[in-house]
Amino acid sequence: MMGASRRAFLSRLSRSKGFRVEDTLSQAVTHIVSENTSGEEVQAWLESQVTERGDRDTVHLLDITWFTESMREGCPVSIEDRHRLRVPEPSTQSAGNTMDSYACRRRTPLQHHNMVLTDALQLLSENAEFCENEGRSVAFKRASAVLKALQGPVCSLEDLRGLPCLGEHSRRVIKEILEDGVSSEVECTQQSEKYQAMKALTGIFGVGVKTAQLWFWEGIRRPADLQTFGKKLNRAQAAGMLYYEDLSTPVTRAEADLLQGIVGEAVGAVLPGARITLTGGFRRGKQTGHDVDFLITHPEEGREEELLPKVIGWLETRDLLLYQKIHKNSYLEAKEWPARSASNMDRFERCFTIFKLMLPRVAHQGSTQAPRAPEAQEGGTGESPGWKAVRVDLVVTPISQYAFALLGWTGSQLFERELRRWAGQEKSMSLSSHALFDSTRRQYLRAASEEEIFAHLGLEFIPPAERNA
Ligand code: CTP
Ligand code: MN
Ligand code: MN
Repeated sequence: MMGASRRAFLSRLSRSKGFRVEDTLSQAVTHIVSENTSGEEVQAWLESQVTERGDRDTVHLLDITWFTESMREGCPVSIEDRHRLRVPEPSTQSAGNTMDSYACRRRTPLQHHNMVLTDALQLLSENAEFCENEGRSVAFKRASAVLKALQGPVCSLEDLRGLPCLGEHSRRVIKEILEDGVSSEVECTQQSEKYQAMKALTGIFGVGVKTAQLWFWEGIRRPADLQTFGKKLNRAQAAGMLYYEDLSTPVTRAEADLLQGIVGEAVGAVLPGARITLTGGFRRGKQTGHDVDFLITHPEEGREEELLPKVIGWLETRDLLLYQKIHKNSYLEAKEWPARSASNMDRFERCFTIFKLMLPRVAHQGSTQAPRAPEAQEGGTGESPGWKAVRVDLVVTPISQYAFALLGWTGSQLFERELRRWAGQEKSMSLSSHALFDSTRRQYLRAASEEEIFAHLGLEFIPPAERNA
């Protein structure tokens, strides 16, 4: 874990001395060496690696000092305590603080008492994501989630005693904010050219971190630069640019309700009896979101097949979509899943869309403004066009997988990650938005509700409003 060129250099050096160096985590890896990375970050990265090996605890997490000493000796030196990265205790309870280290074993409400601190940690997490440092990004997210679950505001470092997931780095940032009101690292990051450019560029629908990074290295800083640089955009990105302003404006709960009405009508029209559920952030009680997420199913297994293309067709006929792309089912466990037939394999599963949401003329967004003149609704004069582009995710699931899909698409993203980590590390189970597999018993566990999935996992049920980790 270090810069690419430094790693390449050190890899060459150690291979020349007969060491075996791997770029990815495999069964063969015995020592993980990092530089300028905390034990907590390395640990988080390690946990994020999907790997066959179940003996991750036997890998040594070491500082660069072990490596340099080994290079000097020409063979692996015996590991001493000072070589080891300090990894925080997984779960601690002291100083009156008892909190589980797994976010899926805690209640995390939307409203909490440490907004200033969590905003700061989340910004650092976001920046780490922009730098493709996944371990660091997750470590900051975990730290932030711990503060969200606290019963009151953190007023001094004493208040943090015994809390899990708060590494050295996070504590340093918190300390600074408690003492000075702001963290210089957070301020610096927020002001940095890289952060601001990455934030703006990844804010374009269809642009991920990888693409934004490539553009950044080419000198692109803002969405407007794309045209100047003559960049060719794919269909999603072109739509993202076209509706950039609308899509960067948060979606309100009222707009989500309007969309629920429209999607409900579409689904009911093409398949009577089909049901839709609002998932994502809105199901967790958020008042705004970056998109609206819907789950669609039918009480009779198999009836949902081919539903998505029909729903999309219905919406397109009525000119309600500005963009849509259907993604094929990527469900790989189909063979062993008893409720699925082979013909289900290529069933379409989800669709990323941009809706053209007509806004009610009167009292739009809860304001009491007077109705606008009809000509103003048509746009072209700089006036609001009377509609708004809104990102909507549609997911279709057979009823046998509905509970898993509901749990998987409700979020938060960290809550989901922690559920899967709990399942894998503590229960030898593998959880997805389709199924739960018990590796010990070598079988899929069925569930008709979220409550049953929590029970299978040996977890206390956490309602959606308390999954805001
Ligand atoms: N999700 C997923 N696969 C994706 C995208 C999202 O499984 N390709 C899941 C995520 O785990 C997340 C949920 O769908 O928990 C909702 O994702 P998203 O809409 O990105 O986040 P929200 O929590 O709804 O936040 P926001 O209000 O900003 O939309
Ligand atoms: Mn969402
Ligand atoms: Mn979404």
